[in-house]
Amino acid sequence: MEMILAPSMLSANFAHLEEDFRLAMQPGVKYLHVDVMDGAFVPNISFGPPVISCVRRILPDAVLDVHMMVQEPARYIEDYKACGADIISIHVEAAKDPKAALEAIRSAGLKCSAAINPETPVSVLEPLIPICDMVVVMSVHPGYGGQSLIPECLDKIRELVSLREKLGLSYDIEIDGGVKLSNLDEVLDSGVNVIVAGSAVFGGDIAGNVKSFLEHMEIR
Ligand code: DX5
Ligand code: ZN
Repeated sequence: MEMILAPSMLSANFAHLEEDFRLAMQPGVKYLHVDVMDGAFVPNISFGPPVISCVRRILPDAVLDVHMMVQEPARYIEDYKACGADIISIHVEAAKDPKAALEAIRSAGLKCSAAINPETPVSVLEPLIPICDMVVVMSVHPGYGGQSLIPECLDKIRELVSLREKLGLSYDIEIDGGVKLSNLDEVLDSGVNVIVAGSAVFGGDIAGNVKSFLEHMEIR
């Protein structure tokens, strides 16, 4: 599987996104992780389509990996497509019919992905993975950047790797939350291939942080 780093813009400085993106989105960084929060599925509110449209203008070539922490996300697929999303992840806990939501994302011509919270077992994803381009394992409780990784979540990644092999599927597996340079080796050992990093990228020396991630992940 291709190794992909997805800096999470939630931890960027919203007063100068363009400057932060210039430092973070170096050659080798293909995805930008975009956290949409509605104040209902999660307590926090982040941003929506008007901001994402601006991000798309700043980064015409990045893959915008939109993580919808939103109740009934299917309501918004067309809006997020219009503002430039390439991948939409929905939470299985937030949709009455996650399969229909994933199919609607796919019919809109986007990549579809299903995310699970730390408490949600992999078994909930099993009926959905044949249609998923990606699955997201939340390794913190969704809603905030800068939390510590819950190590048990790495076992769920291992389960998803075995399932992928057993079923002959090819979905990407993304980990979201608490990944730092200090736990990156352990995270990579789980078999995950898409790494979201927010505070570990945008805290401090952004360009230096990204270089270290790319080196550790052997992305050139
Ligand atoms: C949390 C978000 C994450 C967050 C990760 O709800 O989904 O994408 O930005 O931030 P860090 O890497 O700081 O845990
Ligand atoms: Zn996220």
